[in-house]
Amino acid sequence: MQLIKARDYDDMSARAAALIAAQVIFKRDSRLGLATGSTVLGVYKKLAETGFDFSHISTYNLDEYDGLDETDKNSYRHYMNTNFFRRVNIKPGNTHFPDAQKGKEYDTLIELAGGLDLQLLGLGHNGHIGFNEPCGEFIPLTHTVTLDESTRKANSRFFRDMDAVPKTATTMGIRTIMCARKIILCVSGKEKSEILRRVLYGPILPAVPGSVLQLHPDFTVVADADALGD
Ligand code: GLP
Repeated sequence: MQLIKARDYDDMSARAAALIAAQVIFKRDSRLGLATGSTVLGVYKKLAETGFDFSHISTYNLDEYDGLDETDKNSYRHYMNTNFFRRVNIKPGNTHFPDAQKGKEYDTLIELAGGLDLQLLGLGHNGHIGFNEPCGEFIPLTHTVTLDESTRKANSRFFRDMDAVPKTATTMGIRTIMCARKIILCVSGKEKSEILRRVLYGPILPAVPGSVLQLHPDFTVVADADALGD
């Protein structure tokens, strides 16, 4: 594991964006696994500002709420279109999302394309990655999950009210994520410091899904001082 200590949110965003930009320079047709959430918003902003040529990359998002399509402002497709895809020259046909119907076919799609070169991740308050919620086992492939009430509550800030937050979502599995050649985890803010400590230094358990990242051979954490408790 490589730990990059960022000063603050802006610095975290710049450093993670630099790592992704380096990947795209190194391999212009990179296959990028992408995340959503507030933490990575700054990463997309910085990446869009580089003015880089993204026309050869393809993207595979981590997860999507069930039942929300791109016209819904809370769908992850809408988030990606607004915050990244429409700001760069990525080809819309090169962008992919999991869904409940496709299920494990999403893994086949990624594998046949040659696998993910890089996976960007945020961290849920309960240690989830993608929407792999704490549970009794690591679920390997893309699957549909019932969201934890704590996750629905944390994400309800974007919705009209708690009732509007979907109860299920489809997410890449732990194997899907771990098969990426490189993984970058972005974490910001004091409220994530305890769970980040458990993810990085605690026992590797499905009850803390992100802890499995300790086993990845090319895993970089970009965390700000608040998240690191510095
Ligand atoms: C959601 C997403 C995750 C993301 C997490 C953290 O639940 N499914 O992929 O990492 O939220 O979000 P935030 O960065 O807003 O704290």
